[in-house]
Amino acid sequence: MKTILITGGAGFIGSHVVRLFVNKYPNYNIINLDKLTYAGNLENIVDIQDQSNYKFVKGDINDITFLQTLFTEHKITDVIHLAAESHVDRSISGPMEFINTNIIGTANLLEVARTNWQSDDHIFYHISTDEVYGSLGKEGFFTEETAYDPRSPYSASKASSDHIARAYAHTYGMNLKISNCSNNYGSHQFPEKLIPLMINNIVHNKPLPIYGTGENVRDWLWVEDHAKAIDTVFHTGKTGETYNIGGWNEWTNIDLVQLLCSILDKKLDRAAGSSARLITYVKDRAGHDARYAIDANKIKNELNWEPSIQFEEGLEKTVDWYLNNEDWVNDITSGAYQDYYKEHYK
Ligand code: NAD
Ligand code: DAU
Repeated sequence: MKTILITGGAGFIGSHVVRLFVNKYPNYNIINLDKLTYAGNLENIVDIQDQSNYKFVKGDINDITFLQTLFTEHKITDVIHLAAESHVDRSISGPMEFINTNIIGTANLLEVARTNWQSDDHIFYHISTDEVYGSLGKEGFFTEETAYDPRSPYSASKASSDHIARAYAHTYGMNLKISNCSNNYGSHQFPEKLIPLMINNIVHNKPLPIYGTGENVRDWLWVEDHAKAIDTVFHTGKTGETYNIGGWNEWTNIDLVQLLCSILDKKLDRAAGSSARLITYVKDRAGHDARYAIDANKIKNELNWEPSIQFEEGLEKTVDWYLNNEDWVNDITSGAYQDYYKEHYK
């Protein structure tokens, strides 16, 4: 019987992963460990809270004594590690939280797993990002062989955690899997990230802040496809391997925001072009990476995973989710979010 510790399962991607595992694998026990920072929200997983194979535990991966007790009490057999500070802008204004959670927190988990597991049939699956590879020019893709070149405190903290995880696997023979994914979008994403922030601002007729020229490129992936990829790598990925996960779906920020504006003009019965008038070019992000693009051939060829949904369809579903979940958005955007927004977009 597996008892899988999923960390960060009250956040955006983690909630989708926890839901998938709890519903698809009734024979697994799923322990969801989350500190419930500003980005964690129990509402994200309210639909599974009463399932018999599921337990939520509030706790901090920076507390190693707590982690030790958790491992002993629940006899944790495997880990899928998503807990992190995840927002690049916040890493620029306050890097230490990122160093602590993403580097030390990951090292704590590895250390507790190493000292509790006596054989190599336990999986430690570390979830990472394509940002560790740095920034691309107009051509080319990140492959699993691309040299690391992280350029923000966030990406450097994730790169450090990848290195520590690989060092543990190499030195102690742990059964490690790592995947590095591109930008996710979908339901339950905190509205500090581009897509939900723009949807919320369009709905409320607020300016749409585009950093710099708006020509930076991101490769967008439907969050439920990322969750399915994590399921695939966990169950069929090879020990010690890294898999890049992406959507083959590059968009400049400005084209993406224009698309959101036109989707929302129709849904909100606004005249064509009216939401786009809210677009406002603002000061660029410090050290803003120009382009991310993933070569997702390895996971396709070796594990038979590929994205399942077209971007326009996924984006429309995402917009509908935000329009239908006003209470979720209002709860999150009251209070501390207002202070963050004022400070960041002043
Ligand atoms: P998120 O910010 O939405 O959620 C992070 C979760 O981690 C929150 O629930 C938070 O409460 C929890 N957490 C933070 N610090 C913690 C701590 N010290 N102890 C326990 N829990 C803590 O993040 P996300 O966008 O869902 O990203 C999840 C993971 O996926 C991260 O590791 C991130 O680096 C990675 N990732 C994200 C993306 C993306 O596009 N969002 C893409 C690739 C990889
Ligand atoms: O590539 C994977 C990464 O994608 C993940 O590892 C990170 O956790 C996740 O936050 C995301 O990082 P980005 O910095 O790419 O995402 P964000 O949504 O913050 O920004 C996307 C692009 O939009 C980026 O080029 C910056 C730009 N942007 C963002 C915001 C919030 C704007 O132009 N205006 C904004 O207000």
